[in-house]
Amino acid sequence: MSHEVFDRVAEYYDAARPGYPDGVYDAVAALCAMSLDGAVVVDVGAGTGIATRGLLARGARVTAIDPGQRMLARLMAHSASPGVVVGDGNALPLRSGVADLVCYAQSWHWLRPADSIGEAVRVLRPGGVVAAWWNTVDLGATPDDAQGTGPDWLVAFERRLAASCPAYWGPALPQWRVPQVAKAMGEAGLDVQEAWIHWVRQVSVDDMMLDLRSHSFVAALGEEAAAEVLRRERGELRKAAPDGELEVPMRVYLAMARTARDADG
Ligand SMILES: C[S@@+](CC[C@H](N)C(=O)[O-])C[C@H]1O[C@@H](n2cnc3c(N)ncnc32)[C@H](O)[C@@H]1O
Repeated sequence: MSHEVFDRVAEYYDAARPGYPDGVYDAVAALCAMSLDGAVVVDVGAGTGIATRGLLARGARVTAIDPGQRMLARLMAHSASPGVVVGDGNALPLRSGVADLVCYAQSWHWLRPADSIGEAVRVLRPGGVVAAWWNTVDLGATPDDAQGTGPDWLVAFERRLAASCPAYWGPALPQWRVPQVAKAMGEAGLDVQEAWIHWVRQVSVDDMMLDLRSHSFVAALGEEAAAEVLRRERGELRKAAPDGELEVPMRVYLAMARTARDADG
């Protein structure tokens, strides 16, 4: 089960995964045509609560849903307190028509495409918004986005991970594509908008290693092999950043859609 992988690395995830830039929340609020302040939001696959806290900080009333109890325990250890439900995004334990926004931050690819979007549409009020987004390092041109050129050290870092982690799925692979959520939304009859939001992450090499430890493709290696990858990468990144501080170009892929305003569409 995918949530068990994350439960094993909840501590690292909570310590070092990056947040999302303001532009993500701004774009979602613009499509909602409302402030997030006071909005009823369901954060599916909320994990340790990175997006939950971003939404709460903007005044949203958030229900965080995840099957991973250790991830949710981390979420609840933070001071801001959303509603928290242990549950499955493929069968949301919520009434129909109650939410202004259903979102998946870095989580939709763990769900079943049609079931999850069907559930989001059911739980949304008429005119509500479903949104999914992912943070990734920005290696430059992809078929989806031709902006930017990744620094050599970052390209090399991702290529080494691709070579040593069989479960790696990321921009170092030529066949890499963003999760097909826009397709799933379109197949549910929704009119989808997509956006790329670029930002720069300042992070220490130590935190970059904690972050790496929290990725499912590293967790899947097992303790010994994961430790070896981390040891090697700490050394390589120290060569790239002798002062121990990295500037990592990042980008968020965002897909979102609004449901019909009433039964007549
Ligand atoms: C990469 S984490 C994202 C966590 C958080 N949203 C964030 O932005 O950091 C993916 C999360 O999806 C959760 N997940 C896996 N399967 C799920 C399912 N069927 N329903 C809901 N969440 C699920 C995992 O437990 C994990 O917490």
